[in-house]
Amino acid sequence: MYQADAKRYHTMQYRRVGKSGLKLPLVSLGLWHNFGGVTLFENSREMVLGAFDLGITHFDLANNYGPPPGSAEENFGRILKNELKRYRDEMIISTKSGFYMWEGPYGEWGSRKQLLASLDQSLKRMKLDYVDIFYHHRPDPDTPLEETMGALAHAVKSGKALYVGISNYNAEQADKAITILKDLGIHCLIHQPRYNMLDRRPEQGLYDVLEKHGVGAIPYSPLAQGLLSDRYLNGIPEDSRAAGSSVFLKHDAAFDETIEKSRKLAELAEKRGQTLAQMALAWLLKSPVTASVIIGASKLGQIQDCAKAQDNLTFTESELNEIDAIAQG
Ligand SMILES: NC(=O)c1ccc[n+]([C@@H]2O[C@H](COP(=O)([O-])OP(=O)(O)OC[C@H]3O[C@@H](n4cnc5c(N)ncnc54)[C@H](OP(=O)(O)O)[C@@H]3O)[C@@H](O)[C@H]2O)c1
Repeated sequence: MYQADAKRYHTMQYRRVGKSGLKLPLVSLGLWHNFGGVTLFENSREMVLGAFDLGITHFDLANNYGPPPGSAEENFGRILKNELKRYRDEMIISTKSGFYMWEGPYGEWGSRKQLLASLDQSLKRMKLDYVDIFYHHRPDPDTPLEETMGALAHAVKSGKALYVGISNYNAEQADKAITILKDLGIHCLIHQPRYNMLDRRPEQGLYDVLEKHGVGAIPYSPLAQGLLSDRYLNGIPEDSRAAGSSVFLKHDAAFDETIEKSRKLAELAEKRGQTLAQMALAWLLKSPVTASVIIGASKLGQIQDCAKAQDNLTFTESELNEIDAIAQG
C-alpha cells in the first residue's frame, strides 16, 4: 500500500468552486492521454501517485478515455484499489459521458438511458461506489435539455455522484442547463470549457454566465495540448503528443504558426521567472471564476513543473497586454 507524502498539503493552494462548499487544488490532473491501455502502466501510476503527493487531489476522467475507450478508468481503478484506497476521502474523482462509447442509439449524446448506463459502467471500471463529479460531456442538439439535466440530477439523488457539471456548453446552453438543474433542486457545480491563452471562446459570455450563477470553471487543455509549454520550442520531440498517433494534435501549418507565438510568450514567461507552462496556467487562474485548471501530462516532471504555477499568479497590465498582442496577433 502506498504511503503518501506527509507534506502533501503544505504548498498546494485550494480554491472554492463557485458558490459551493467544495475546494479544488489550483492544478488538477486529467487522464485523457497517457493513462490508457496502450501506455506503460508504471508511468501512469507514477504520475497519479506523484500528483497526489503534490496535493493534487482532483483527477479528471471520462468514460471514453484510453485508448482503448474505458481503459483509463480501468487503470485508474487499479491504482486506486492497490495504492490509494485509504485516501479516497481526500480525493475528488470526476467522470463524464456524452461522446461515443458503445454501439447503438444509447452509446453517446445525452439521453437519460445513455448517461445513467454510462455512469454505472464508469463506477464498475473504477471500482467505486460513487464519483465526486459527473459531467455531461457535450451538449446534445436532439435530446430535451430537461431530460439530460434530469439524468444528472438523478445521479446525485441516487448517491452515485456528489456533484454534477457540464462541459463544452456555450454561454446560452450553460445558462439554460444551470437553470433547469436549479429548478430540480441541484446546483451545477462546475463547467469544463476549452480555454487557454490562444482559445478565448469562454470570454464571449460563458464566464459571465458562470459567475452570475455561482458556478466554477475548470478549463481543459490549458496548455493547448503542450503548445503553450517549452515542449515544441526546439522541434518536435519523438515522445511528444504531436509526434505520436493522437488525432487531436497534428503538425501542420497552424502548428508552426502557434510555435512562433509560443517562443515569444516563453520569453515573457522567463522575465516573470516562470516556464511558459506555468505562465499559461497562472494566466487562467487570474480569474476568480476559474476554480482549477486540468492539465495533461506524459511525465511526472511536467506535473511538478505545472504545480509551481501557483507561485506567481499576478500579472501587470503591461504583461496582460503583451500576452494579448502575441497570442491574439
Ligand atoms: N471536457 C472535454 O471535452 C475535454 C477535452 C480535452 C481534455 N479534457 C480534460 O483536460 C485534460 C487536459 O487536457 P490536455 O492533455 O489537452 O491538456 P494540456 O495541459 O493542454 O496538454 C497536456 C500536454 O502538454 C504537455 N505538458 C504538460 N505539462 C508540461 C510542462 N510542464 N512542460 C512541457 N510540456 C508539458 C504534455 O505533452 P506531451 O504528452 O507531448 O509530453 C502533456 O501531455 C485531459 O486529460 C482531460 O481530463 C477534457
